[in-house]
Amino acid sequence: MKKIAVYPGTFDPFTEAHLDIVKRGLRIFDDVIIAVAPSQRKKPLFNLKERLTLIKKSIKALSNVKVEAFNGLLVDYMEEKRGVAIIRGLRAISDFEYELQMAHMNRRLHSQIETVFLMPSEQYSYLTSTIVKEVAFFGGSVKGLVPAHVEIALREKFKIVADIME
Ligand code: COA
Repeated sequence: MKKIAVYPGTFDPFTEAHLDIVKRGLRIFDDVIIAVAPSQRKKPLFNLKERLTLIKKSIKALSNVKVEAFNGLLVDYMEEKRGVAIIRGLRAISDFEYELQMAHMNRRLHSQIETVFLMPSEQYSYLTSTIVKEVAFFGGSVKGLVPAHVEIALREKFKIVADIME
């Protein structure tokens, strides 16, 4: 039986740290599904369709990875996909408390599903989607922190925002 892992998140936008986690996940699991949550409450910069497109382009060279949107409870989605583990990236201690809460709650909701924490490469240990957006908004370079097409998408997005604000 194939071991399927689900890597859930908002991915607004997908960064090199996310890609790094996906690649590490593939060393352990047969298939990785990147499950994109709408996360409307976070008012994402990129809509769901845009986020899916950016991720698909980022993982083009990888086999055994799929990208999908999901709605509702993660554990229900896991069951539907026959996933055995949830992958979450863990960067620093600051991530830990919230991640622990989520992992425990998911275990309470579904005792058969494990959460696996993976550390991204050291060079991405400070990288978050929020910080990438902040830097790009003020015109700073995010080269090397996000795939090239994400960098372009960020530039275009903030150009539109700047035009509206003028
Ligand atoms: N506004 C905008 N962006 C924010 C934010 C905010 N207030 N807070 C965090 N972020 C960004 C960060 O930049 C961070 O980026 P990263 O992906 O580079 O780490 C990212 O959002 C992290 O947010 P976080 O809440 O840790 O995870 P997530 O949004 O990537 O994923 C889900 C959370 C989707 C996995 C989780 O909410 C979930 O499973 N939802 C489904 C419903 C469910 O089952 N809930 C019960 C779970 S116990």
